[in-house]
Amino acid sequence: MDGAGQAKLILTGEHAVVYGHPAIALAVRQGVRVRLQAYDGPTHVVAPITTDERLHQAIDTVLPSTGIQVHIESTVPTGRGMGSSAALSVALVRAWANWQGQALTPETTYAAAMKVERIFHGNPSGIDNTVSAQGGVLWYRKGPPIHFEPLPTPDWELVVLDTKQAGDTKKMVQLVADRFKENRSVLEDIGQLVLEVREVLHDAKELGRCLSLNHTLLCQLGVSNNDLNALVDWSITQGAYGAKLAGAGGGGVVIALTPTPDTLIHQAKQAGISAFKTRVTETSWQ
Ligand code: PMV
Repeated sequence: MDGAGQAKLILTGEHAVVYGHPAIALAVRQGVRVRLQAYDGPTHVVAPITTDERLHQAIDTVLPSTGIQVHIESTVPTGRGMGSSAALSVALVRAWANWQGQALTPETTYAAAMKVERIFHGNPSGIDNTVSAQGGVLWYRKGPPIHFEPLPTPDWELVVLDTKQAGDTKKMVQLVADRFKENRSVLEDIGQLVLEVREVLHDAKELGRCLSLNHTLLCQLGVSNNDLNALVDWSITQGAYGAKLAGAGGGGVVIALTPTPDTLIHQAKQAGISAFKTRVTETSWQ
């Protein structure tokens, strides 16, 4: 029995969303698929073999302790701010509901996935599992009660540039919390910027300018690093409208908005940078 969850990218508002500001996230075409098979013995993961204790805890939270083999296929790089754990959480919840012949509403899906996400991230805002379950472009505000609304899908594509370093979401969220007094006004500025982004979502040039501004604010929060900054600067010198780190930072990916995505990817390859193109995916995987 199968279940799947989509990966996501945060267009704007990461970290500030933890403090009640709005954020905008996109579901993208990468994702995680979970397949469950009957098994005469304790429930366990067949593939991939992993030593990550959190994965075992996640499986214990959703599935019964005996009788199931779990197969996981993923096209989402882990620890890169692309919501791999949220996609896994949603996929697990859906696979188990399908196994039991239960119909899930979007609300019950992200509520159940949120429990699993907590195992990975402590106290997440919920944006990752909501967009993973919902698909498309989402305006999101943390609860309680959470508020989200789908926004019209833009026609631009994003170039994702990978530092190849894994960031630790829990650690980065804690870093911002530890300096909350100093960070408060930067978080408010990010919240204001998200309002502006909503207005220019379909204007790639203006949006690019906002993304770069968002990156500067994330640098002020202390969640960027030299590799992320180098990829942002490099994208701009290659003609991108703008770029920013996406997700918690401390590693992970940069998203760049450019009039010529294929050219940027070609240039990245020549410069030895791992890059790929992605676009908003409206239909949620099931
Ligand atoms: O797990 P990531 O890297 O996609 O980041 C999640 C976004 C944060 O705002 C940093 C945390 C959260 O819970 O919203």
